[in-house]
Amino acid sequence: MTTEFNREKAISWDSPLKVEISSKFVSEMKKNINFGKSLKVMDFGCGTGLVGLNIAPLVKSVVFIDTSKAMLEVLQHKAENKQKPSASYKIIHGSIDRYTSKDIDVLFTLMALHHIEDTQATIERFASIIKPGGVLVIGDLNEEDGLFHGTESVPHNGFYIPQLAQELENSDFDVVKTYTFNTIKRDHKEYEQFILFAKKRLK
Ligand SMILES: C[S@@+](CC[C@H](N)C(=O)[O-])C[C@H]1O[C@@H](n2cnc3c(N)ncnc32)[C@H](O)[C@@H]1O
Repeated sequence: MTTEFNREKAISWDSPLKVEISSKFVSEMKKNINFGKSLKVMDFGCGTGLVGLNIAPLVKSVVFIDTSKAMLEVLQHKAENKQKPSASYKIIHGSIDRYTSKDIDVLFTLMALHHIEDTQATIERFASIIKPGGVLVIGDLNEEDGLFHGTESVPHNGFYIPQLAQELENSDFDVVKTYTFNTIKRDHKEYEQFILFAKKRLK
């Protein structure tokens, strides 16, 4: 069974665990990136906006993009009800191909990349919309045994960082740093989550 981000999943997405993980991810980004009111950022695979809505007060504008209509409906509701002070924002339903402007200063993505079959192609698309010198931040699972998603199957059971780094290097990014930012404990097992910062090369 593949993961479906349907309405049932969307309305219960913002659990204490998800809020905690996204808060840790946001906090690591804030330590490493000077967010400011001149920046345009993208939350790719944004889901209900747990990451992007927390960055919104710090930047000029946020592009939220996700293939799940149900997750985006929850995000829209939260944004309209001003759960966070807002920058200007745009919500796009679809995959990364739906965005073609080459004007993103920082693109971040939390727990979405392992749902995507062709990560190299997606990273190349990221490279095409991030400005030279701009930053890509990936938060995802380290390689795991496939039990994280239970009976659901996903294209990647986490990532082997050197291989992901190679895909980034192949696509005009230099990896700046990566480290474990969180460990999820479940059923007597531990799943590590990494954060990776990469810089788009100045051509
Ligand atoms: C595990 S959720 C993470 C959501 C959010 N980033 C968070 O941390 O709460 C993965 C999200 O990626 C989205 N997604 C999966 N494939 C995608 C694609 N090809 N393009 C954009 N979003 C995608 C799903 O719809 C889902 O909302």
